[in-house]
Amino acid sequence: MNAPLDVSAHREAVEIAPGVHWIGALDPTLRTFDIILRTANGTTYNAYLVRGDDGVAIVDTVKAEFAEEFFARLESVARYDEIKVIVLNHLEPDHTGALPELMRRAPQATLYISTRANSMLKALLKPTDGAMEYTTVGTGDEVSLGGRTLRFLHTPFLHWPDTQCTYLVEGQVLFSGDVFGCHYCDNRLFNDRVGDFRFSFDYYYGHIMRPFKQHVMEALRLIEPLPLKIIAPTHGPILRERPRRYVTHYRELSTSSLSDPFGDDEKSLVVFYMSSYGNTARMADAVRAGADAVGGVRVSLYDLEGGEIDPFVDLIEEADGLAFGSPTINGDAVKPVWDLLSSLAVVNLKGKVGAAFGSYGWSGEAVRMIEDRMRGLKMRVPVAGLRVKLIPTEEELGECRAFGRQLAKALVGTQEARVLDLADLA
Ligand SMILES: Cc1cc2nc3c(=O)[nH]c(=O)nc-3n(C[C@H](O)[C@H](O)[C@H](O)COP(=O)(O)O)c2cc1C
Ligand SMILES: [Fe+2]
Ligand SMILES: [Fe+2]
Repeated sequence: MNAPLDVSAHREAVEIAPGVHWIGALDPTLRTFDIILRTANGTTYNAYLVRGDDGVAIVDTVKAEFAEEFFARLESVARYDEIKVIVLNHLEPDHTGALPELMRRAPQATLYISTRANSMLKALLKPTDGAMEYTTVGTGDEVSLGGRTLRFLHTPFLHWPDTQCTYLVEGQVLFSGDVFGCHYCDNRLFNDRVGDFRFSFDYYYGHIMRPFKQHVMEALRLIEPLPLKIIAPTHGPILRERPRRYVTHYRELSTSSLSDPFGDDEKSLVVFYMSSYGNTARMADAVRAGADAVGGVRVSLYDLEGGEIDPFVDLIEEADGLAFGSPTINGDAVKPVWDLLSSLAVVNLKGKVGAAFGSYGWSGEAVRMIEDRMRGLKMRVPVAGLRVKLIPTEEELGECRAFGRQLAKALVGTQEARVLDLADLA
């Protein structure tokens, strides 16, 4: 094994493969990234330089505050007038911060961005000094540097709409952007030298890639057939030891964990409730019983008072339908309901069926508020919410059972009376 390498001790480029250098920057003191992510030891902004016989390519840049470090590393291995190509795998500022200055220093270079990055490039860079030269590329497009070929893979929504990956054909290096990245700063740089970063890798996936699982699967179909010596992401360790296991792990993380035991033909409805005097609880039980009477639907009932957010989020991700029961307290639904509903940014809810019910005393705002929120999260709300004043009567419990039945039927596609949902008209 090579001697330990400490890149924080110098500002030189680091060769990661013949003719390929890391020219990124370390940000060891960062603790919060993009508001939503925490990191215990900072992050790295990885940028790369590829040298061919006819010129040099820069793949991604760094956050603006780290431009000086990036330029110093770049200058240690290339001159600006050698730069022929600048590739941006996505346009988020943590990788495009140094771009305007790079374009000033290498005005002859052509920018390569994904076909979806057009409008974003203009909105981000706000060009004031004339037109920008750029080329949009898609899967299979290539640019030659002389003896070295960069091939593009269109991998949208990982995690921005304009995301692409770039593959160095001869070196079998995948410049994957944020895909396979993580916020983990270690000055030893390579996955076989750094500390144990598995939790950071999974955490990054869980917060950044998880909402886009379907897109991850599509990207993996492009990535998996590639011979791979190195995966070079834009954050965290460079994956040179057994790079393919990270590809396999992404597939595992993106595969539904519940679909097998349930079977494809069974729908899942999860009913969450909260109740102070048992009124909404009684309603929830009746909703469950009603839904249970419909074939092909697996119904689960959970009291929010007894649960933690994270496993509920996992359940919601796998569910086809959700029902929330909340009493109205001080003109609002109760906090655990909002806590759960505001924790769903990491999962894709689009098209899931949602419904709300609850007991109330006089004004009863909770149900409508929950329905509005579910529509705002792009869920369908095909069955009108159900409210019961104070203690549900036998007749009202019958309405709750009918409500559950209707909901289950909406899930299996045999809804009786169609209720007009304003969200469907939008
Ligand atoms: C502190 C408190 C505030 C309440 N605020 C409202 C309210 O703003 N509007 C309303 O319709 N009912 C309100 N209620 C009445 C409850 O919604 C009602 O008692 C309901 O049946 C409770 O259902 P649960 O047993 O499922 O908790 C309030 C009750 C309490 C205890
Ligand atoms: Fe990003
Ligand atoms: Fe990033």
